[in-house]
Amino acid sequence: MVFKEVIVLSIFESLNSKEIFSVSKTDIEKAIEIPPQGKMGDYAFPCFLLASIMKKSPAQIAAELGKSIQHPYIEHVDVVGPYVNFFLNRQAVGRKIIDEILKKKARYGDLSIGQGENITIDLSSPNIAKPFSMGHLRSTVIGNALANIVEKCGFTSVKINHLGDWGTQFGKLITAYKMWGDEERVKANPIQELLALYVRFHEEAEKDFELEEEGRHWFKKLEDGDEEALYLWKWFRTASLKEFGRIYQLLGIEFDSYHGEAFYNDKMEAVIKELEEKNLLTESDGAMVVRLEESNLPPCLIKKSDGATLYATRDLAAALYRKREYHFAKSFYVVGGEQALHFKQLFLVLKKMGYTWADELYHIPFGMMLKDGKKMSTRKGKIVLLEEVLHDAIKAARDAIESRNPNLENKDEIARMVGVGAVIFHDLKNDRLNDIEFSLEAMLTFEGETGPYLQYTYARTCSLLRKSHVPNSHTSLYEVFEDDKVWPIIFLLSRFEEVIASAFFELNPSRIAKYLLDLSQQFNKYYGTVKILEENDGLVARLKLVKATSIVLREGLRLLGIGTPERM
Ligand code: ARG
Repeated sequence: MVFKEVIVLSIFESLNSKEIFSVSKTDIEKAIEIPPQGKMGDYAFPCFLLASIMKKSPAQIAAELGKSIQHPYIEHVDVVGPYVNFFLNRQAVGRKIIDEILKKKARYGDLSIGQGENITIDLSSPNIAKPFSMGHLRSTVIGNALANIVEKCGFTSVKINHLGDWGTQFGKLITAYKMWGDEERVKANPIQELLALYVRFHEEAEKDFELEEEGRHWFKKLEDGDEEALYLWKWFRTASLKEFGRIYQLLGIEFDSYHGEAFYNDKMEAVIKELEEKNLLTESDGAMVVRLEESNLPPCLIKKSDGATLYATRDLAAALYRKREYHFAKSFYVVGGEQALHFKQLFLVLKKMGYTWADELYHIPFGMMLKDGKKMSTRKGKIVLLEEVLHDAIKAARDAIESRNPNLENKDEIARMVGVGAVIFHDLKNDRLNDIEFSLEAMLTFEGETGPYLQYTYARTCSLLRKSHVPNSHTSLYEVFEDDKVWPIIFLLSRFEEVIASAFFELNPSRIAKYLLDLSQQFNKYYGTVKILEENDGLVARLKLVKATSIVLREGLRLLGIGTPERM
């Protein structure tokens, strides 16, 4: 149950009783605020938007509304100038919410914004034969959280790893391998060796101009299905995927499809033909392009003068394929901001092809991962290997566990959950578009805004529930919900749905991350001042509160892709 709706309804009904019919529930809902301080009420409604309709001052309107609003879940209202401040009935709301959470458990907060429609999510999508970058990590983590969120909102997510496994760079790589490659070394350390070969290709190509030509030649062979080219390409691809697979396993992330760029190789002719038939292709210096100047954008390159297709061509084929295959209601692309122009062009070309569903395609960009204020680069020796970062985080978590709780069982598995959870949360607590400063130390402290802090709070709720035993004769005594220290927890619990909905509509998992921090902080404050297990009076009500908090923390962290150990 969403109590914001109760407030909206109470205002709406009160207005209707005054025969003011021109204000919609949505207008009211948009105006509702949550006051910065609890003593100013749980929700507030500023009356400015009614002034011109009712031809009265906002303060007059607030005073009138204040007198007429009534609802069993509203304890009282305070009128302060133009504001109507609402105070919920703590006991009634508390009982209602806690019962609902205990009944629905992990299904608490499920929404039916969708009715099972598919949403495809293009995420992670690293490039074969190159290291998995911090940008790919961000895409993976944000995309995975969005997938969980859309599922929670009633859609079906289709997670697609659009691997960068095709393009002229593979011609260069094959050339480099044939000239300088060593089979054993590539087998032992595929990504590192292939990257070195690729870098060497570029160095040598500055002196030897034939090399570029040779690279193009091999890509052409690859596109034409040459046996040797295909053999090498497949080997590079499989070996890289195996390395990526280790990262996905650590992160606990799975995909519904690994159809990367290469998958569209035999689907591009049809796209080019369709563009031609729709009179959208024009020639430019021997290349084929779709002009977009009416939207002030540079042309979208479809086919190079040597006949080779491009990244954009493959993305066009992919969008069409996904629509046919999954009939998606929406399609997300979780890709760094550097590619904003590419996606603008892509969506526009589809629109020009006459596909109205192009309006349901969303580029979901994100900021950079910085180290000491600079972009973390995978090039030029500054390689930060993601797998190493994850292992460092797990190792640090293992050390922390060893010193805090040496007798814990399953230390390794818990260290993995904590280390990886720390890395994921460090990303998701930030607004998607912000740049993030990478710091292992900051990620892993048990205090402050970290993954381990949230997991620790969850483990604390579990420990309380394990230790509790309810005496035979007891009364629930829901009066404890009136307590000023309990109320912020209940109020937050009641807002879970609202927060999930905003994470969905804003495509921003940090909404949930910040909410979980608030909830944990309030819970820990409560834990620090109230002896939850000691007194019999109200014990059952307090335990129900702990259980409800535990359920919401666990489900919230699950949505972010973070595991919840019961002990740590
Ligand atoms: N492989 C690309 C890169 O690393 C990202 C691909 C994103 N997805 C897409 N459909 N273009 O930059």
